Amino acid sequence: MQKYRIITYGCQMNVHESEKIAGILTKLGYMQANGDEPADVVVFNTCCIRDNAERKAMGHIGMLKTEKKKNPDMIVAVVGCMTQQDGAGRALREKFPFVDIVLGTSNLALLESYIPSVAASRAKFVDINTEEKPAVNENETFFRTSGTNAWLNIMYGCNNFCTYCIVPYVRGRERSRTKEAVTDEFRRLVDEGYKEITLLGQNVNSYGNDIYGGEYGFAQLLEDLAKIDGKHRIRFMTSHPKDFNRRLIDVIAEYPNICNNIHLPVQSGSDKILKLMNRHYTRSYYLDTIAAIREKLPDCGITTDLMVGFPYEEESDFLDTLDMVEKVRYSNAFTFVYSVRKGTPAAKMPQVDPLVAKDRIMRLIEAQNRITKELSKEYENKVFEVLCEDFSPTKKGCVCGRTDSGRLVTFPGGKESIGQFCNVRINRSQSASLFGETEE
Ligand code: 5AD
Ligand code: SF4
Repeated sequence: MQKYRIITYGCQMNVHESEKIAGILTKLGYMQANGDEPADVVVFNTCCIRDNAERKAMGHIGMLKTEKKKNPDMIVAVVGCMTQQDGAGRALREKFPFVDIVLGTSNLALLESYIPSVAASRAKFVDINTEEKPAVNENETFFRTSGTNAWLNIMYGCNNFCTYCIVPYVRGRERSRTKEAVTDEFRRLVDEGYKEITLLGQNVNSYGNDIYGGEYGFAQLLEDLAKIDGKHRIRFMTSHPKDFNRRLIDVIAEYPNICNNIHLPVQSGSDKILKLMNRHYTRSYYLDTIAAIREKLPDCGITTDLMVGFPYEEESDFLDTLDMVEKVRYSNAFTFVYSVRKGTPAAKMPQVDPLVAKDRIMRLIEAQNRITKELSKEYENKVFEVLCEDFSPTKKGCVCGRTDSGRLVTFPGGKESIGQFCNVRINRSQSASLFGETEE
């Protein structure tokens, strides 16, 4: 049987999209290659959110040249966000002539016809869909690779145009799937035995605006899904603070199967920077939202994305970000140095000295690590329900999984535990990792 290899960069959205690519390749009769074993089809599912994501993908694509020389029949496809940038599709083909297929973010389904064409006649395809609102494809097949957790797209694209961000340019405007399509897929996943379903969208809080005009939104969708019977958890990401409303907090509080875990990217703690970023909220509005979450969901794990070195960021703005981190006490934070994205408004703003940005990111990481460590201590000697996901990658004879709040727990166990909800007493913590033992 012929084999495929998919190399995925970037966010959960891409991880899930790679499951769709795997679905197409499985349908075409290919089998997943193990690790680095030679493959007949190689697909790069790319990301362009920051310069380093792009450089990494470019490096890996370049490295395939030797493999392709050894196996000239190998089919190479480059798809996803990177290809959607202005002129990037053609540029990719010029730089890497051995690439056979280049597709964008909304026409991945074409792989199903292009791969057999390349196999038959060595045809080449560059096909980037530049429509702002491409139709949602409801005929997708998946080859899910995520174990006990399943990803479920509720919407595509983004309307927010944060001034640093390339996503609206490469993924187009918001398109929500209908509540029927989402609910059907959710039910199927529950029936198939998935124990955790994560709803995906660039800004899940604006779900439905485009098709229901405010008549049916994310809080209602979440409530309808939470009412579906079965022992499983629901997670969702990502939330935009400007659209995160109190009704949503009430729904999370009311239904125990919705995880107390909210990813609420703040980006910066400075009002001046938030304005320049076009984020449409202030520091105090954000802190009010956090206070409302903490009041109704005291055990909620709140995570965030933070950026340093955005244009015009001065030391005092950075101190506001540090102060935000101290005030909110995030359970975890993804920290980034601002990276110039061509074509976005921030690319034309005066840039911060990279050495200053580097110093700031180190200080930010240090503060967040200390807080994560302190919060981990609070888990010790308490019992939590953990959904066991997999064998521990680091500890022999152990398995790992997550608490409702999203914290990773490692504990002794074997194959039989995977996919089960286990009560685990935490007896030790190390930075963000918790360790424990099961209890009856
Ligand atoms: N530079 C650095 N980080 C970025 N992000 C988005 N665009 C950029 C950029 N140009 C970060 C934001 C976002 C996360 C997914 O990636 O923090 O929330
Ligand atoms: Fe990018 Fe802002 Fe949209 Fe998130 S909300 S994808 S940061 S433009």
